[in-house]
Amino acid sequence: MTAPTPAPIISQARAGEHIVVEVALAERAYDIVIGRGAIASLGARIKALRPGAKTVIVTDESVAKHHLATVEAILAASGIASSTFVVAPGEGSKNYATFEAVCEAIIAARIERNDLVIALGGGVIGDLAGFAAASVRRGLDFVQVPTSLLAQVDSSVGGKTGINSRHGKNLIGAFHQPILVIADTALLDTLSPREFRAGYAEVAKYGLLGDAAFFAWLEANWTDVFAGGPSREQAIAACCRAKAGVVARDERETGERALLNLGHTFGHAFEAGAGYSQRLLHGEAVSLGCTLAFEFSARKGLVGGNTAGRVRAHLAAVGLPTQIQDVPGGVPDADALMSLIAQDKKVKRGQLTFILARGVGEAFVANDVDPAEVRAFLNEKISE
Ligand SMILES: NC(=O)c1ccc[n+]([C@@H]2O[C@H](COP(=O)([O-])OP(=O)(O)OC[C@H]3O[C@@H](n4cnc5c(N)ncnc54)[C@H](O)[C@@H]3O)[C@@H](O)[C@H]2O)c1
Ligand SMILES: [Zn+2]
Repeated sequence: MTAPTPAPIISQARAGEHIVVEVALAERAYDIVIGRGAIASLGARIKALRPGAKTVIVTDESVAKHHLATVEAILAASGIASSTFVVAPGEGSKNYATFEAVCEAIIAARIERNDLVIALGGGVIGDLAGFAAASVRRGLDFVQVPTSLLAQVDSSVGGKTGINSRHGKNLIGAFHQPILVIADTALLDTLSPREFRAGYAEVAKYGLLGDAAFFAWLEANWTDVFAGGPSREQAIAACCRAKAGVVARDERETGERALLNLGHTFGHAFEAGAGYSQRLLHGEAVSLGCTLAFEFSARKGLVGGNTAGRVRAHLAAVGLPTQIQDVPGGVPDADALMSLIAQDKKVKRGQLTFILARGVGEAFVANDVDPAEVRAFLNEKISE
């Protein structure tokens, strides 16, 4: 098979240069700098944006082990004062107690309105440190240095920050845009293969929801993305460009931004069913959810069965789960899954909202999905 011509969304960085994607939000516009070694520019970029700023780095123990010393050295070399606050790794840190500790650490470090919070880590750190930045002194500027693939393509861009409530994930939070995002693709070399693969589900999602050429490009180039070749930064840049576009047009998710939830309604039900445990990572649930969204679309006659098969084949090829039977330990029955779906999504006049598709790259918001149809579909899938 010959590699398809890269989509226009794929752009090459010249040697030694990084790809810069702008999030066009008027006076809150910011750059996402993407590439191997991009972290080296952190100090100079901070100095240019906020001369004289002090910084506090918020990170987790696993990321600190691999990358904290580098970041501290880069800041020191630019004469930027920094202190550090390290939290335990994992979703459990998106709680009130850790949020309080991060806020107190920022205040203790005397970070004021012209200073900066630096979120160095995956989506957990971005959400937690971003929300602390949004809250301390009614809003401090912050910089995202995402270190997981999921964070580089999704959570670090767009300004959603927050922590979890006992009633559900991300229920306490704020929209707070960073002033800069530095996505150094080399930092992903220390990520576990499983976490990388899970993040890749979100990469594929961008192709599936709005860019068929990008999806075809991924089908041809995914091994280089995993291996850390030039395709990795091109893929991450394509995702950031797609997300930046959606966020600039619909910052508060009143419309188009909802398309980013492709695969997430089904996915969240399986994630919740597995108790948000290591049994099923978020991206793994999204992979299964995207496959099911296309298969459900096929069942409704919106796409052909071979389109759904193509989606499944690609996600399975990279080693992601694509069928209910792939979830270790099994899943709740269809009734229990339906109540998880109903909890996740508001049911309006007895109808559910799903992101469905008319083809690869052609997702749309369907507000009128009959729960009985979803239940029958899930029953079929569970007994396959
Ligand atoms: N704000 C948003 O728009 C948004 C979007 C999607 C997801 N999220 C949130 O993001 C979180 C998930 O993000 P995640 O998958 O990055 O989880 P995470 O931050 O927990 O990172 C996953 C694991 O990888 C480790 N890790 C991260 N970078 C590493 C590196 N370079 N080397 C070695 N280990 C590394 C972490 O310590 C952690 O154990 C969830 O809380 C989710 O709600 C937010
Ligand atoms: Zn997601």
